[in-house]
Amino acid sequence: MATATEPRRSKPAASYQTRLLIDGQFRDGVEGKTFATINPATEQEIAQVAEGTAADIDLAVKAARKAFDSGPWAKMDARDRGRLLYKLADLIEANIDDLAALETLDNGKPLKEARHGDLPLVVDVFRYYAGWADKLAGDTIPVRGPYFCYSTREPVGVVGQIIPWNFPMLMVSWKWAPALAAGCTVVLKPAEQTPLTALRMGELAMEAGFPAGVINIVNGFGPSTGAPLVAHKGVDKIAFTGSTEVGKIIMRDAAQTLKRVTLELGGKSPNIVFDDADLDAAVDGAMLGLFLNQGQCCCAGSRLLVQDTVYDQVVEKLAAAAKARKVGDPFAADTDQGPQIDETQFNKILGYISKGKAEGAQCVAGGSRAGDKGYFIEPTVFADVQDHMAIATDEIFGPVMQVLKFKDVEEVVSRANTTDYGLAAGIWTRDIAKAHSLAARLRAGTVWVNCYDVFDAAAPFGGFKSSGIGRELGEKALDNYTEHKTVTVSLK
Ligand code: NAI
Ligand code: MG
Repeated sequence: MATATEPRRSKPAASYQTRLLIDGQFRDGVEGKTFATINPATEQEIAQVAEGTAADIDLAVKAARKAFDSGPWAKMDARDRGRLLYKLADLIEANIDDLAALETLDNGKPLKEARHGDLPLVVDVFRYYAGWADKLAGDTIPVRGPYFCYSTREPVGVVGQIIPWNFPMLMVSWKWAPALAAGCTVVLKPAEQTPLTALRMGELAMEAGFPAGVINIVNGFGPSTGAPLVAHKGVDKIAFTGSTEVGKIIMRDAAQTLKRVTLELGGKSPNIVFDDADLDAAVDGAMLGLFLNQGQCCCAGSRLLVQDTVYDQVVEKLAAAAKARKVGDPFAADTDQGPQIDETQFNKILGYISKGKAEGAQCVAGGSRAGDKGYFIEPTVFADVQDHMAIATDEIFGPVMQVLKFKDVEEVVSRANTTDYGLAAGIWTRDIAKAHSLAARLRAGTVWVNCYDVFDAAAPFGGFKSSGIGRELGEKALDNYTEHKTVTVSLK
């Protein structure tokens, strides 16, 4: 993800927007509560952020409802909605260095990744959907009898969006851009670990000229801020990215008001290396697929299945590559890996490392905390991993790679699919027929062949099975935010 140009800025701006965005105004929470957001590299508090509760969610939903039902947004031409999205993309691009630095401060990801990985995609997602705003056409439908039948696509309404902390701004773009292009209004609940960049994007959205109430941001915690959004009668749809566990709660709670629900959840994605692959490319791809973003990726290739004939060779290369990764200050230009997001995740990951050792897997790189301040963990590789081990079945969400051995295609297909998850998969081979036939047999929403973690605004992304419901990105994501209406007119 790194490129040749180094980030210009190494420190974010001195002051941050910390209040809630409701009805076009930044304001404190009704109950006046705040919570700390922590720099995971130092464990120091960055700022106190306004904490929204059910009362703020109610105000935000009412503002979004009014903007949707009767505000200028409701009457705006689709092409002008598109222009606002282009404007927001331009403002994000103009502030790209500051935004990347703020993301690194709050999240801990290396600045070079925030600046050259996340942010360019954010800009691209807004531009991609800006172009869709005026292209949501319906059909004319040939029906029996003297009738003229046509369909239209209308925005689904007020959308509640709940996002995680691993790609804070990228998740904002995946949620806002298709919703706004379709003409919806939104209430966003960012993750409590990373509240700052969404607020900065809110400021830029106001500067771009989005009318009051179209975009609302209410920070806070899951049960006290997210849950009231899911329960609110004024919300038509919930879009959620996060844990499978919370995804189930959201689906259950949304059923009470029959909201539309899309979920992008966890994974335990197989990344399969055949002996006829370009092994150096496969090792690079496996490293990226697991260690990108400190291993905090829903689509992490966390089950690396390697063919027996090249297994030892690949394990050796992986161990060397993991040991060569530079862990440390995310603002340093040569850092490959920053800290984990918070103490909870840090402890969860260290717990899985202990479990892996206890279950008899071979730890061939890393295996401990790195340093004694900040939530840093050594890039860790486990070899001789067996399918039944907890490290092979559970989503670890950290820099811990599992390498498993397989013999042939039939065996690897069945083992790759033996999981409740189905988000992504990787295949490394020079045999084109094997690649395509295997791609068809893997139960996963995304399959990467001789590459991994290649994302594009136009390419749909989402999960089979317990990895979620619905697809984000591409034309498909617009279905999440539109209702289809059928109009039949008598010609008699
Ligand atoms: P989480 O699912 O609890 O949090 C994600 C979002 O949901 C946050 O904004 C949170 O405040 C909100 N939330 C939590 N409980 C809620 C509720 N009852 N109602 C409404 N909103 C609620 O994930 P968490 O605790 O941060 O991480 C736990 C595990 O989840 C990780 O270890 C990882 O395995 C997985 N995860 C997966 C992600 C993905 O991209 N698919 C992202 C983050 C975490
Ligand atoms: Mg949680």
